[in-house]
Amino acid sequence: MTGGAGFIGSNLVRHLNAAADDAVVTLDKLTYAGHRENLAGLAHPERHTFVHADICDRERCLAVLAEHRVRAVVHLAAESHVDRSIMGAEEFVQTNIVGTQRLLEAARAHWHALGSDERARFRFVHVSTDEVYGSLAPADAPFTEESPVRPNSPYAASKAAADHLVRAAHRTHGLPVVVTNCSNNYGPRQMPEKLIPVVIERALAGKSIPIYGDGEQVRDWIHVDDHCRALVRVLEAGRTGEVYNIGGDCEKTNLALVRALCAVLDRERPRADGASYAAQIAHVADRPGHDRRYAISSAKIARELGWRPALAFEQGLADTVRWYLANGAWLAAVANAEHREFMARQYGG
Ligand code: NAD
Ligand code: TYD
Repeated sequence: MTGGAGFIGSNLVRHLNAAADDAVVTLDKLTYAGHRENLAGLAHPERHTFVHADICDRERCLAVLAEHRVRAVVHLAAESHVDRSIMGAEEFVQTNIVGTQRLLEAARAHWHALGSDERARFRFVHVSTDEVYGSLAPADAPFTEESPVRPNSPYAASKAAADHLVRAAHRTHGLPVVVTNCSNNYGPRQMPEKLIPVVIERALAGKSIPIYGDGEQVRDWIHVDDHCRALVRVLEAGRTGEVYNIGGDCEKTNLALVRALCAVLDRERPRADGASYAAQIAHVADRPGHDRRYAISSAKIARELGWRPALAFEQGLADTVRWYLANGAWLAAVANAEHREFMARQYGG
């Protein structure tokens, strides 16, 4: 698992560690977004190995694959925040594009060296985003696997490039890959630079809650546990060379989502003055190139692999808020210097 110390990766490591007998090797560079704390307290630590490495280091990746006789790669390592990609795209090109290509080359060399049975079973699952498909108008049908790729942010463009390289590794070299494109995840251990944890953290700190532009942009929200279950199904039974879209079937405008979050906070941790946290909402300058709407059809993965999102949004959101309220120490631990500097640049001192 690359990127296993990040938000989705650590939730997937935890899921696999608790639910399956397989050993997992996490390979992670521990950027500002990767945290060893995310992997603390595993149910079966003896089945997990952490390797501090960069996916851009092809030889190191190959050595790790060989040493641990890896049967499947789940590739999540990436620079993942759109606003950071707007400030500077260099790291996105390096990790998301160059890093993915180097990892593919390492995986290919490893795959070639396997015996024929292991080679037949090997999988490279590339975890990508619905943002590669660009933006939808209000009346458009949700994205499908056939939708044109039209990324609008440097982040989405770098992920789209990576998706193409993964496809090419399959078509040209036969590497048994599967690509997944998922919608906006929420849940425990998401860096407080993405919308939901930003709102929770800033609301509790008595700061303004920043809504970009009019707040009528639409995202399709999925609980990270549902995404992890989908990735396990893809690992088990996904057809090689195929793309599977994964969504929560849960479209919300940003304003509706933030108001729902404030309502949960009002219940769980009422403000001292009795007012709603919604009073802290402030419209700020819009994100350049801001995609208006994402919506994604999960019909293919439902049909082929029997996966559907299972967690109700209201329940998932309330659980997520309670997790952040109970884990103030985690929030303090992940707020490293790089994170604080980004927040100051993005939202002002
Ligand atoms: P994240 O930013 O929380 O974590 C990324 C992880 O990758 C971190 O642990 C970081 O240290 C590691 N990493 C970064 N560069 C690396 C490198 N060069 N070598 C090794 N490790 C490196 O991201 P996330 O939200 O957990 O997203 C994980 C993956 O899922 C990404 O590929 C992202 O594009 C994709 N995705 C995310 C969402 C979402 O809503 N968060 C939705 C769809 C797809
Ligand atoms: P984000 O969590 O960054 O995910 P993505 O850009 O990958 O969809 O943002 C979700 C939505 O919330 C997006 O439309 C941008 C918006 N947003 C705000 O309005 N304010 C904020 O402070 C942030 C971080 C995001």
